[in-house]
Amino acid sequence: MSAAAPALHIAGLHAGYGRYDVLRGVDLDVGPGEAVGLLGPNGAGKTTLLRSIMGLVKHRRGVLSVAGTDLLRLPAHRIARGHAGLVPEGRRLFVDQPIEDNLLLGALHLRRHRDRVAELLESVYDLFPVLRDLRRRPAGALSGGQQQMVAIGRMLMSDPKVLLLDEPSLGLAPIAIGEVAEALEALREQGRSILVVEQRVDLVLRMCDRIYVLAGGEVALEERASALGDDGRALIDAYLG
Ligand SMILES: Nc1ncnc2c1ncn2[C@@H]1O[C@H](COP(=O)(O)OP(=O)(O)OP(=O)(O)O)[C@@H](O)[C@H]1O
Ligand SMILES: [Mg+2]
Repeated sequence: MSAAAPALHIAGLHAGYGRYDVLRGVDLDVGPGEAVGLLGPNGAGKTTLLRSIMGLVKHRRGVLSVAGTDLLRLPAHRIARGHAGLVPEGRRLFVDQPIEDNLLLGALHLRRHRDRVAELLESVYDLFPVLRDLRRRPAGALSGGQQQMVAIGRMLMSDPKVLLLDEPSLGLAPIAIGEVAEALEALREQGRSILVVEQRVDLVLRMCDRIYVLAGGEVALEERASALGDDGRALIDAYLG
């Protein structure tokens, strides 16, 4: 594939559980260096979509590729090795373990490449300097916003081509949400390709180049964030119900 291949390309994706398709023909792209927001009502299938990309939802068909690599042909553990990285809802950190150990878990598959792991670790600490200072502290001792930085950092340690985040602001206090927004801004400045599921429409419109609204198993709305004024927000709110 050419260098112009989208970071993430999804076409006609069906996915679900058992015999039931939650996603019924989803078309979605993330361009290189683009930040894309995914909105939708509860139960629309946003998490299912992210988990499908990671190969964690088995029942799926359609087109699903990252930088030209067909993900439907790869098992989940291969997808997580440098193709796509997920920050799951609720962060799922080992709260009793030091921050640095949590980060290193993202790079387990690179353990024979110590120089690369050291390089990735440095790049995470450069992005979130506060984590360098606190690296020996247990992850559970951090603020909610800092814990989200650890979860993002652990995902970055797998060296992914596309970054997936599931509701990074969920359950966080306003000050922590500000920290998460800053973290996403930093990732954008690095030119990362990002797909973020987020309930906070204001955050999405601020952080993202484009948005999709998922409803009824399909994409119900796709729009450039800059094209969505107050009318656009009302439109999104109508879908979110
Ligand atoms: N492991 C599972 N087995 C069976 N059904 C599931 C499973 N996980 C989710 N579902 C169902 O799939 C549908 C989509 O769920 P999903 O979690 O993807 O939605 P969501 O858009 O992320 O919702 P929320 O906004 O609440 O996070 C729901 O009807 C849910 O009950
Ligand atoms: Mg969800």
